[in-house]
Amino acid sequence: MSQATWDAVDAYVEDRLLEPDAVLQQALADANAAGLPPIAVTPSQGKQLHLLARSIGARRILEIGTLGGYSTIWLARALPPDGLLVTLEREARYADVAAANIERAGLSAIVDLKVGAALQTLPLLAAERPPPFDLVFIDADKAHTPDYFRWAVQLTRPGAWIVADNVIRDGALVDTEVRTPDVLGNRRLHEIIAGDPAIAARVSATTIQTVGAKGYDGYLLALVLEPDRARG
Ligand code: SAH
Ligand code: DHB
Ligand code: MG
Repeated sequence: MSQATWDAVDAYVEDRLLEPDAVLQQALADANAAGLPPIAVTPSQGKQLHLLARSIGARRILEIGTLGGYSTIWLARALPPDGLLVTLEREARYADVAAANIERAGLSAIVDLKVGAALQTLPLLAAERPPPFDLVFIDADKAHTPDYFRWAVQLTRPGAWIVADNVIRDGALVDTEVRTPDVLGNRRLHEIIAGDPAIAARVSATTIQTVGAKGYDGYLLALVLEPDRARG
């Protein structure tokens, strides 16, 4: 099985199950033209995020890692007119591209794009004591995914989904020779969910391996649980 097959299958699925979408296509085209890295979720993945949000009637979504706003648009379209999506992006130049794409999608009124390193903007967001989020999409620097995951647990309601992208990376997750910050972050993510008492009791999680137009990778899905009343 090869990348050509994975590309062809993604194209097959897009042709049949996804509507042609000029706004999303233009968002990708403008991101590419501005020199942003071509690492947005695929159309099929974007639609999965959208459906996940819709299926739980999400009203508040948090995204960490905006890039050009492609996944942002997919997710924000799942929200009601009075919903809110907060998206965090470190690179001001990327955020400018995203803001234009979100505007063109007619979503500016429900998307709050905050520019800055997420480990700076998350405490500011939490200090505002926002109503809990229904879904968090973690898709920024993978080295910090465990930190973002802790924030996500703190900022969500029971029944919320936390999705962490790019946790497999061609199987590097389990290749003990690979010790890059990204891969260490993805391992640490699994370890805290498995064994950190503050986290393990709060979520139930699994990781799904994927192939497709973006190669061999995968994502972690965590359901936020009711607080364990027996432990106070
Ligand atoms: N979610 C996007 C892709 C995000 S790519 C989509 O699928 O369309 C990862 C993004 O995270 C990049 O834009 C990068 O600039 C941003 N990022 C990296 N480190 C960050 C940090 N510390 N804080 C906030 N954003 C960060
Ligand atoms: C990278 C980041 C992503 O969020 C992604 O989906 C793919 C690749 C990266 O940093 O290489
Ligand atoms: Mg990603």
